Amino acid sequence: MIKLINEKTAVEPADNDYARINYLYEEIARLNRAYYEEDAPLVTDAEYDALLRELTALEAVHPEWRRADSPSQRVGGRRLEKFAPVQHQVPLLSLANTFSGDELRDFAARCEKLAEKSLTYVMEPKIDGLTIALAYENGRLTQAATRGDGMVGENVWENVLTIADLPHQLKDFKGRLLVRGEVYMSKRAFAELNEQRETDGETTFANPRNAAAGSLRQLDAAVTASRRLSVWLYDILLLEGTEWPQTHLQTLDFLRAQGLPVIPEVSSGDIETIVSQLTSWQEKRHKLAFDIDGLVVKVDDEQVRMELGSTAKAPRAAIAYKFPAEAVETTVLDIQVGVGRTGVLTPLAVLEPVWVAGSQISKATLHNEDNVAAKDIRIGDRVLLHKAGDVIPEIIKSLSEKRNGQERVFVMPHTCPECGSAASRAEGEAAWRCPNRSCPARVREGIEHFVSRQAMYIEGLGPQLINQLLAAGKIHDAADIFSLTMDDLLPLERMGKKSAQNVLAAIEQARRRPLGALLAALGIPYVGSKAGKLLAANFPSLERLAAADKEELLAVADIGDIIAQSVVKWFADKDNQEMLSRLAAGGVEPQAEVISQPETEGAFAGKVVVLTGTLPNLSRNEAKARLEKAGAKVTSSVSRKTDYVVAGEAAGSKLEKAQEFGITIIDEAELLNLL
Ligand code: IVH
Repeated sequence: MIKLINEKTAVEPADNDYARINYLYEEIARLNRAYYEEDAPLVTDAEYDALLRELTALEAVHPEWRRADSPSQRVGGRRLEKFAPVQHQVPLLSLANTFSGDELRDFAARCEKLAEKSLTYVMEPKIDGLTIALAYENGRLTQAATRGDGMVGENVWENVLTIADLPHQLKDFKGRLLVRGEVYMSKRAFAELNEQRETDGETTFANPRNAAAGSLRQLDAAVTASRRLSVWLYDILLLEGTEWPQTHLQTLDFLRAQGLPVIPEVSSGDIETIVSQLTSWQEKRHKLAFDIDGLVVKVDDEQVRMELGSTAKAPRAAIAYKFPAEAVETTVLDIQVGVGRTGVLTPLAVLEPVWVAGSQISKATLHNEDNVAAKDIRIGDRVLLHKAGDVIPEIIKSLSEKRNGQERVFVMPHTCPECGSAASRAEGEAAWRCPNRSCPARVREGIEHFVSRQAMYIEGLGPQLINQLLAAGKIHDAADIFSLTMDDLLPLERMGKKSAQNVLAAIEQARRRPLGALLAALGIPYVGSKAGKLLAANFPSLERLAAADKEELLAVADIGDIIAQSVVKWFADKDNQEMLSRLAAGGVEPQAEVISQPETEGAFAGKVVVLTGTLPNLSRNEAKARLEKAGAKVTSSVSRKTDYVVAGEAAGSKLEKAQEFGITIIDEAELLNLL
């Protein structure tokens, strides 16, 4: 493990403390902008903390130079303007940081001195996500806001409604509850989202925190719904209608009893018990399903917490313990270029093997040529490596000061390294693509995807066997899998009778996979398992889906322009049509998806509704969320399947179309009435 030193800190000597303070103001403001507003951090948390600590230390020596707007005095970043502002009823403070057991002991000594007694502490994981403040009134979730600057945050209620594990209704508490927690993306959801984005040639998220932030702060709640966000709650901000619990552990029990997702892996004890657990957490953190960047230690006694109060920035009775930055140094031995099933060329760093965050790493994706250039990573460079989201090996930066002149600049090939076809890079995309659909790499990767667990799930047909079958000319594409026989398999090296039978049995089972799984397997751009399921639930057969036009597809809730267009284009393609006929000839008969029962009560249950124009009071997202709660499907274009069109000011062509089709048109007042 090594300690990170900010390059600028090391190489940019300040003339004097005054100049240095001013430099730090600017630098921290720049880093804040990138982190909070662009969700694209420029440095690691450890580097950021180092700068902030340096500034705090300098300000302590020269209080006369401390500006009122100093970042050392602020709770968080600036808020974005695009969401409606929410004034927090209770300010959302931040936490002071510690980095060692001794600093935690100092914290406890301060608390116990003020409380004039010895205390019990609770330790929780520090989730690396983003703060959320939720309001439950009369048992219902009525508001969700980000932290913003601690006083005013953003209204992200509609987006929060899409988080699967958060109940919209409490078990039985009917008073008023403001609760604080962290929205996060699990390591797995993050890895899968990035994999999908890389396949689609989109930019990837640097870590789960950014992925969660980027997903929560979407003006279109449908996008948030398509990302797998989760939430852990860990504190009550305000409670009316019942006694405030006496200890923090009881607070967590109360939240749990109301059916809320409460932070797990909590322990308690005196400060020595807490400190003794720090070392085991270094290991344990990697086993969690979500990313944490430290631990939070809180006084258990709620009365004492209240009495200790807070400084301008943080409560006195809670503190964060930040894990040491887990980054290691290694050498880039080579940069190779891989070809994915969609033809995207991805540079891959081959590394001198090194242990980081619990496993040995010898490769790291470099995503695309812009990323290599931005980080100036050269072949032969010493680099800093960590695991983004605790899973994906990522080069943080190259250590340019360690170069000896032998390093080579990487040049992205403009031809496919596998088949030699001329590659191209579309405007606005980060990726170069090989256009050749018969490119051996694309075919191989396509088949691997086709048989994978989330697609046709043909167990036993792994990458090695696929390579053997391709080399022996037994298969040329995925459809050929369904004409494989015992005679094709048995002559292959290391293939016994039993294994061959197992593979054939798995293929037989795959013939009757659900339609959604087949759709995900086909490699239709932007259609993964989630979109596949959605389409399958709305179209009874492959034939019906193949015949659907863009409008019909758009009528499916959560299917937007990009997917609709992609599906229409895919089914119109001659080669794809031929592939489908061959799958059918091979006995593939996808099973219809079981459709979940829509709500059966109320005017909008099971109805398809389109919103158009500006409504006098409700925002588009608010209206959509309320309709969906009432069991309606809100779609973006009017078709003959539409039941209602809600029209506001300046409604245009959708209104005309509704009139033409004779669809019931209502205004906001009637909508609210029916709701
Ligand atoms: S308690 C008054 N508990 O860490 C502050 N915070 O660096 C109360 N965080 O802004 C916060 N996990 O977003 C608390 N178990 C946990 C946490 C946690 C993550 C975040 C929170 C806070 C930040 C401070």
